[in-house]
Amino acid sequence: MKGFMIAAFVFQSIVPCVAIPSSFSNPIAIGLLNITKMKKLPLLLSLLLFIAVFENCSDKKISKTITTDTNNGGLKDHFKDYFTIGVAVSPQALKTDEAGLILKEFNSMTPENAMKMGPIHPRENEYNWAGGDSIAAFAKRNNLKLRGHCLCWHNQTPRWLFADSATGKQVTKEVLLQRLKDHITTVVSRYKGTIYAWDVVNEAISDKKDEYMRPSLWYQICGEEFIAKAFQWAHEADPDAILFYNDYNEIDPVKREKIIRMIRDLKTRGIPISGVGLQGHWAINEPSKEQLEKTLEDFSSLGLNMQITELDISVYPKEHNARERRAADADTVFTPEKEQKQMEVYKTCFGLFKKYRENISSVTFWNISDRHSWLDNFPVRGRKDYPLLFDAQLNPKKVYWEILKK
Ligand code: GLA
Repeated sequence: MKGFMIAAFVFQSIVPCVAIPSSFSNPIAIGLLNITKMKKLPLLLSLLLFIAVFENCSDKKISKTITTDTNNGGLKDHFKDYFTIGVAVSPQALKTDEAGLILKEFNSMTPENAMKMGPIHPRENEYNWAGGDSIAAFAKRNNLKLRGHCLCWHNQTPRWLFADSATGKQVTKEVLLQRLKDHITTVVSRYKGTIYAWDVVNEAISDKKDEYMRPSLWYQICGEEFIAKAFQWAHEADPDAILFYNDYNEIDPVKREKIIRMIRDLKTRGIPISGVGLQGHWAINEPSKEQLEKTLEDFSSLGLNMQITELDISVYPKEHNARERRAADADTVFTPEKEQKQMEVYKTCFGLFKKYRENISSVTFWNISDRHSWLDNFPVRGRKDYPLLFDAQLNPKKVYWEILKK
């Protein structure tokens, strides 16, 4: 709105005859009415365009749709008797028109990157709270639940973490565990009372059939111990937070068995783990109904809280590894066929999520709309994907209405 007000003032200073009402109720209309009488049209249009672009880039931009009626039939209302509906966000997105969509459709958020170890703890004695704090403040202000993501992961770690600052050599187990404890204690304490659930350890299990744990630096330096310790320290810092182990591709029975084995082991030892996060990065060709049902069934039988933490359904067949671009990747049109296939998978997912509602407490989408998704650059850089329920203009796609029928 501020941009349009400035635009209206520009009109006024160039064309003194334009009367600007004090309410600024529709400065565009006022401007257009008068512009038709003018010869300075190109100059004015350029000015307006500049102002609109400037406004759009400004950090201080407030959502234009933030006053949307937020109690009127969004996803969060439709599924209120089943689970919370969450969305992964960046601090920047909360300053755009996407903020209005979040308030209308969602009642939970997860920081996409802002609370990962690299961004939030870039140097040993330096924390960068700006992004995390602004997301937490938005959640508080608007009464949204907030999931924390994530305290210990092998990706997006800061450079200093695994190296001795004096020698540059790999740190010992004692030093690394102490660093992990300091990190978890500091971050969890800061958001105590605001973040109700943490992804404590992310992706520690190996994807290889004959390997139990991923051979990350965490594992190489500490063995399995870092996992239990991470849960204990998170619990000590905030005994009220619910604590999740989070991973992907649990529809693979071999990987699922390993995850179940690890969680059972932690439970048996009295480690404070509350639940399992299923990321849910799926695609038009998987999971099948049978695969997903078996997965939800197996985890439910653990009696653990389950959350779907990173849901998106790619419109391309699933690929697990990044790869080079091929000629066929140039075809990125969102065809009715792709749309139909995506719709079927989403319908299957939500049908089963509802069926297992006793164990599933939250479903979070990974990103807000097709305007931006990490899948635009994975597995192929620069291949546009359309994995979410809202298009790039933030309009609900057909699949949205199908899910609401479920
Ligand atoms: C994993 C991580 C997320 C995110 C996605 C891809 O699933 O848990 O934080 O990085 O990959 O964007």
